[in-house]
Amino acid sequence: MTSTSLSNASSNDLSNKSALTLSTPSYADIQSIVADDFKIMDRQVFGSLDSKVQLVMSVSQHVINAGGKRMRPLITLLCSRMFNDNPSEQSMHLAAITEMLHTATLVHDDVIDESNQRRGKPTANATWDNATAVLVGDYLIARAFNLLVGFQSLPLLQLFSDGTCDIAEGEVLQLQHQHNPEATENDYLRIIDGKTSRLFMMATQGAAILQGQNQHLPALADFGQHFGNAFQIIDDVLDYSGDSELMGKNLGDDLAEGKPTLPTIKALELLETSNPEGYKQLRIAVQTGKTPDADQLIELVRGSGSLDYCKQRALDETKLAQQALSTLPDNCYRQGLYQLTELASARLV
Ligand code: IPE
Ligand code: IPE
Ligand code: MG
Ligand code: MG
Repeated sequence: MTSTSLSNASSNDLSNKSALTLSTPSYADIQSIVADDFKIMDRQVFGSLDSKVQLVMSVSQHVINAGGKRMRPLITLLCSRMFNDNPSEQSMHLAAITEMLHTATLVHDDVIDESNQRRGKPTANATWDNATAVLVGDYLIARAFNLLVGFQSLPLLQLFSDGTCDIAEGEVLQLQHQHNPEATENDYLRIIDGKTSRLFMMATQGAAILQGQNQHLPALADFGQHFGNAFQIIDDVLDYSGDSELMGKNLGDDLAEGKPTLPTIKALELLETSNPEGYKQLRIAVQTGKTPDADQLIELVRGSGSLDYCKQRALDETKLAQQALSTLPDNCYRQGLYQLTELASARLV
C-alpha cells in the first residue's frame, strides 16, 4: 500500500513505525500511536470467535482472516486514550466488538450486493452460499452482544442496541431505494447515516462511556457521524473511479445494482439539463439495473461533474468532523483522529 493509502491495508501491517508527521501520515503511522493496544485488540477479534459449530468458525475466520483496516476499532482505541492515557482492557475489548459488528455488516452487505470479492478474498457468499453467509453474519452480531453483556453497562448496551437497529434500518432503506432514480441527496444521507456512520458513532461514544466521559458524547457523535458520512461518500466515489485490486473488492457494482448513491443521484441532476440523452440512459440503468455498456455509463457519470461535487461534499463532511474534535482533549490521540480524517480524504486523489 502507498504511504497514504487506506485501501485494503492488512490489519497486521504495523511495520511502518516512522514518527508521526503533520503532512502525510500513513495509516501505519496512525496505528502506531496505539500500537500495543491495537495488537491486543487484533488478537481479541480472532479470540472472541467461540462457536461449538465448526461451520460458524470456518466462515467467521475466513472473513476475519482476510484482513481489513480495523478502522473502527482504531477509532475506539484512539478515543479511549484521548481521555485516559493508560491501557484499558475494556476499551480494547470493545474495539474488538465493533470490528466484529462491522464484519457482520460486510458479510450481509456482500449477500445483498451479490459481491464476490472482499478484502482481496472471495466473499463468504461466494465461498459458501447466501444462506450460510446470512446466518453466520447473524451469529457475529449475536456474539458481539453476548460479549457486550459482559461489560455490565446498560448505557453501553443501549448505545449498541440502538445503533445496530439503525444500521439494519439503513440497509433496508437502501434496499427500498434500489432502482429508484428519484432518490434524493437527503434519502442518500439518511441511508448512509444508518448503514455506515452509526457504527463510527458507536466506536467513538462507546469509548467515552467506558471512560466515564459522558460530557463529550455530543462532540463524539458529531465526529463519528461526519467522518462516517465522508468515508461512505468517498467509498461511493471510488466505486466509479477506484482500483478494484487496490481496494480488494468489486467496483462498479453500485450502478450495476441500480443503487442510487450520491455520484449517481448528482449525475442524474446534472445530466438532466446538460445531456438529456445521457440522463435518459442513466435513469434507465438505475431503474432496471441493466448496464449493457457499463463502461460508457461510468464515463457518463464521470463526465457529468458529479464526482467533483461528491468529493467536495466529502471534504465538507471531513471539515465538520475535524471541527467536532475541537472541544475534546488536545493530545496525540486527538491528533491521530484528525489525521485519520485527513487520510480518508486523501483517498480522493
Ligand atoms: C467498508 O468499510 C464498508 C464501508 C463503510 C464503505 P472499510 O473500507 O473500512 O472495510 P474494511 O474493514 O477495511 O474491509
Ligand atoms: C457499505 O456499503 C456497507 C456497510 C456499511 C454495511 P457498500 O456496499 O458501499 O460497501 P462496499 O463498497 O461493499 O464495501
Ligand atoms: Mg457492498
Ligand atoms: Mg461501496
